[in-house]
Amino acid sequence: MEFKFTVENHEKVVKLFDNYPTKKAAVMPVLYIAQEQNGYISGEVIKEVSTILEISEEDVMGVVTFYTMYHQHMPGKYHLQVCTNVSCMLRGAYDIWEAVKTKTGLKNGETSADGLFSLEEVECMGSCGTAPMIAVNEDFHDNLTKETALELIDSLK
Ligand code: FES
Repeated sequence: MEFKFTVENHEKVVKLFDNYPTKKAAVMPVLYIAQEQNGYISGEVIKEVSTILEISEEDVMGVVTFYTMYHQHMPGKYHLQVCTNVSCMLRGAYDIWEAVKTKTGLKNGETSADGLFSLEEVECMGSCGTAPMIAVNEDFHDNLTKETALELIDSLK
């Protein structure tokens, strides 16, 4: 389905250009606005962002695939990001990861049939001091154990 920024979001994008030396340098916040509008970064979003920023679709795709904050599929109502990087791993992240997969019945990158949950294993989210952690949409939940992680999932239903 074709993607175009809403008038309001297009204004936000144009305003962003004042803060960057080139249009290309604004690719991350522009993608973020697009994702907020569309729910995820589709091929049509990539096309539109590349047109607006006057860069190639490959350049946009490179950013989308590098950063876990950009979704390439429609996420669930609750997008669960489980960090398994070093600090979290040393404090039991893989136990949490396995428990969350079992609890939700999802594998990495999947969304539940009812659209409630999507699941993603991620690299460090910058919350190492309070590892292990899970992000639910934009909210970080820290110092988790397997038990409190499962309680967290239950609280979302
Ligand atoms: S290693 Fe998990 S937040 Fe840094």
